[in-house]
Amino acid sequence: MYEYCQRPRRTIREVLEEFRSVKIPREYVFDLFPPLRPRQFSIANSVKTHPRKIHLCIAIVQYRTMLKIPRRGVCTSWLAGLKPGDQLQIGVQKGFITLPPDLTTPVICVGPGTGVAPMRAIIQERIHDGTYENTLYFGCRSALKDHHYGKEWEQYASEGKLTYRAAFSRDGPEGVQRTYVQQLIREDAARICELVDKRGAWVYISGSSNKMPAAVRAAIQNALVTEGGQTEEEAKEYIVKIEKEGRLIEECWS
Ligand SMILES: Cc1cc2nc3c(=O)[nH]c(=O)nc-3n(C[C@H](O)[C@H](O)[C@H](O)COP(=O)(O)OP(=O)(O)OC[C@H]3O[C@@H](n4cnc5c(N)ncnc54)[C@H](O)[C@@H]3O)c2cc1C
Ligand SMILES: NC(=O)c1ccc[n+]([C@@H]2O[C@H](COP(=O)([O-])OP(=O)(O)OC[C@H]3O[C@@H](n4cnc5c(N)ncnc54)[C@H](OP(=O)(O)O)[C@@H]3O)[C@@H](O)[C@H]2O)c1
Repeated sequence: MYEYCQRPRRTIREVLEEFRSVKIPREYVFDLFPPLRPRQFSIANSVKTHPRKIHLCIAIVQYRTMLKIPRRGVCTSWLAGLKPGDQLQIGVQKGFITLPPDLTTPVICVGPGTGVAPMRAIIQERIHDGTYENTLYFGCRSALKDHHYGKEWEQYASEGKLTYRAAFSRDGPEGVQRTYVQQLIREDAARICELVDKRGAWVYISGSSNKMPAAVRAAIQNALVTEGGQTEEEAKEYIVKIEKEGRLIEECWS
């Protein structure tokens, strides 16, 4: 089942093409072909900054499996074909992200790739509310490619409204380890420890990578050990505690 279906991501149509003897009785068709499920995308703006608007930052899903047939995401391929003025039906769901009620509380946003979407909503909302203690760790392949909202971040940074740190993973020389957001967090250990431990900063992590959230947690944990004098065990428990308190919030997908 795994080798034939899941791993190569064979579609129902491809299976039926291979087993032509299969005749599906009409009354079972809807048992076999499930209805399309809705796809979720994070809102990438604050309605205070852009009233009555919803911005999205979407990666168009395209990949190949061992079958070598190009696979395309159902919803994102369709979205990519839309023209200005086209209408679509959407629903809006409440997300997990809340903001610190006290405006003096700093926030640390970690959103590589399309993970930057909810971070933009948070940062715009905070800046609109007049609070500038915002830090963003963003990561993409190159400063010139997928540098989502780069000009906006640089503008906020130049106005003193944001501390902007970007990891361009593929801009370094070949063969050298790629730079990721967690590496910048390790470089900034003293500041991270000060913000999280002393100032009670809220931390947000979002993105599409499976391994990124754990690596970011480990980098924050490392800052608490090297700069805050905590033991590994204490720092680990501290991360669990702030997550329980709702001060570390993750919105990740794969
Ligand atoms: C809360 C939440 C917020 C999200 N926010 C955003 C956002 O802001 N921006 C954004 O771009 N996405 C976001 N996503 C992810 C998005 O919903 C999915 O990528 C969605 O599946 C895309 O729909 P699709 O129909 O185009 O792709 P689908 O047809 O659903 O195909 C996606 C599926 O293809 C498979 N797949 C994809 N790449 C590969 C690969 N390289 N190898 C093997 N299999 C693969 C995976 O099983 C994946 O689930 C979010 C998801 C969640 C749950
Ligand atoms: N074909 C393209 O040109 C292109 C461009 C962008 C995205 N995409 C696809 O779009 C999808 C989602 O893209 P996305 O923009 O959300 O993310 P993404 O571009 O895949 O990743 C964003 C950044 O995170 C880095 N990253 C990878 N693994 C990480 C880890 N373990 N910890 C921390 N950072 C890590 C990436 O580096 P590295 O990728 O260098 O390792 C990249 O710099 C992916 O399937 C991606 O393959 C395609």
